[in-house]
Amino acid sequence: MTESLQKLLVELEQFGLSNDATIADRPQRMLNITRDTGEFLSVLVRSMNAQRVLEIGTSNGYSTLWLAFAARAVKGHVTTVELSDFKLSLAAKNFERSGLAPFITQVKGEAGAMLRGASESSFDVVFLDSERSEYLGWWPDIKRVLRKGGLLVVDNATSHSAEMGPFVETVSADADFTTCTVPVGNGEFLATQVSP
Ligand SMILES: C[S@@+](CC[C@H](N)C(=O)[O-])C[C@H]1O[C@@H](n2cnc3c(N)ncnc32)[C@H](O)[C@@H]1O
Repeated sequence: MTESLQKLLVELEQFGLSNDATIADRPQRMLNITRDTGEFLSVLVRSMNAQRVLEIGTSNGYSTLWLAFAARAVKGHVTTVELSDFKLSLAAKNFERSGLAPFITQVKGEAGAMLRGASESSFDVVFLDSERSEYLGWWPDIKRVLRKGGLLVVDNATSHSAEMGPFVETVSADADFTTCTVPVGNGEFLATQVSP
């Protein structure tokens, strides 16, 4: 990783922590993943040689930078969805500063609508870090857009286990998927499609 990207990530980590410590209004909070989750996502994308990565929930782009850093290394691309204009604009500036903008497509809009419009098997990795109450409703489309053998990663599996419960139970009960939760950051729930 270049020194400038490393510096930007550290700056965003500090900004996210100080911003979120002082601001109670959820739409104004960054709610970033932890650094170890970023490193974990980066290893997953690289090891899977993932060409097509979808992130749901951009915020100011901290997690996107980890995904795009890895995607660039394997000549892949990240599509990231966000509905807040405020956060889209913060993220766009961070992507330009990082030098990773050519490897990122920002989609402005509601993730459920975006998922409904996406083609079958169009993503190798889906990273879900958005409005948890929507996950169960999005599941049929997430399942459809993820290629066979593709990987779903969901943040906050342990930090918000009660809210995540119905979604985790549904995916874990799906015979087409094998799942686990790993104790990285706020807890990452992983699911990969195993059916032929
Ligand atoms: C937890 S934050 C994402 C943090 C980001 N992944 C990171 O680690 O830097 C969740 C984001 O999802 C966005 N969001 C919430 N509901 C959404 C929806 N239905 N469609 C698209 N984005 C949504 C919020 O505006 C917020 O920026």
